[in-house]
Amino acid sequence: MKIIGTGSAIPSLSVTNDMLSVFLDTSDQWIRTRTGIVERRIISDENLKDLAVEAAKKALEEANMDGSQLDYIICSNVVNYYVTPSLSCLISGEINAACPCVDLNAACSGFVYGLDMAQAYQLAGKAKNILVICAEEPTRMCSWKDRNTAVLFGDGAAAVVVTEGDDFKASYITAKYRPEILYYQRALEDCPFVTYQQRGVPMYMNGKEVFKMAVNASIEGIERILKETGHTADQVDHYILHQANMRIIETIRNQLHQPVEKFPHNIERLGNTSSATIPILLDELNKGGKLKQGDTILLSGFGAGFTAGTCLFTWTMN
Ligand code: ACO
Repeated sequence: MKIIGTGSAIPSLSVTNDMLSVFLDTSDQWIRTRTGIVERRIISDENLKDLAVEAAKKALEEANMDGSQLDYIICSNVVNYYVTPSLSCLISGEINAACPCVDLNAACSGFVYGLDMAQAYQLAGKAKNILVICAEEPTRMCSWKDRNTAVLFGDGAAAVVVTEGDDFKASYITAKYRPEILYYQRALEDCPFVTYQQRGVPMYMNGKEVFKMAVNASIEGIERILKETGHTADQVDHYILHQANMRIIETIRNQLHQPVEKFPHNIERLGNTSSATIPILLDELNKGGKLKQGDTILLSGFGAGFTAGTCLFTWTMN
């Protein structure tokens, strides 16, 4: 498998830490030093589907491909306005696609899970050209009265078009049963046969446990992928990690004994956009001319579940 196009789209509204401290008991200094986040983009007048379509169109344009040439659309999404039909189906109608569509929810690991799934479809001979898209609106899952979660998230979408090739060397995805450390429960409709009331619960997060799980899962995945592909940590040119907390990225970097230049980040500008963080960053690096032909790229994501995913590939676009 190889990537032949990338694209991303972010909301227009920028919300700074100072804007949050107007209604939350928090401060720019706390958020900056504990997370690395300075501002985030939040969906206001746009909608998530439109951002996803914009990202998909940009990726298709770079791939020099029309939506009608796609064989599959895989969309990583945790929440959006529609529960059904899937977000991937809603996107397909606006990019001229006529292929099967499926949404996957692996929380913030969704991009690596999506790539892993795309490669499996290719290897099974069931699809060649696949759009893997991540579209996320986590700002609608947290309570805006809860400073433990509200300060962390932003919204955004990003996509890649993949086709057959030899760039992808290995991927490793995991899920460990830890629902109690990070969850969001949505209210369901009333039903005459249900006696207890079901209310939604805004996102709950045990930050310290998530932090530990994130570092351990990421290191486990990275070490496994390096071993499987016969690479040393030094041979990787870019570690593109899930942008959840700058301190998580720094802890992983220190454990791998790698220089800061190899760990690009945009968390300071965009916050945690769930599964969209990795493909947004990949698109920024691609469009910014930061990726050279032959570079070795490692992606590592982690999220609620607790899920994690790592993959390694060679960059051959340009
Ligand atoms: N502003 C000011 N103070 C705050 C805030 C805030 N926004 N949030 C918490 N505090 C307070 C706490 O109440 C606590 O006060 P206390 O000492 O009086 O009890 C103090 O700050 C320290 O709180 P901790 O939770 O211990 O802070 P910590 O250093 O662990 O940082 C954080 C919290 C940033 C959430 C960190 O634990 C973290 O990043 N965890 C991982 C989160 C993550 O990665 N989430 C997403 C991954 S999965 C996904 O992407 C969906």
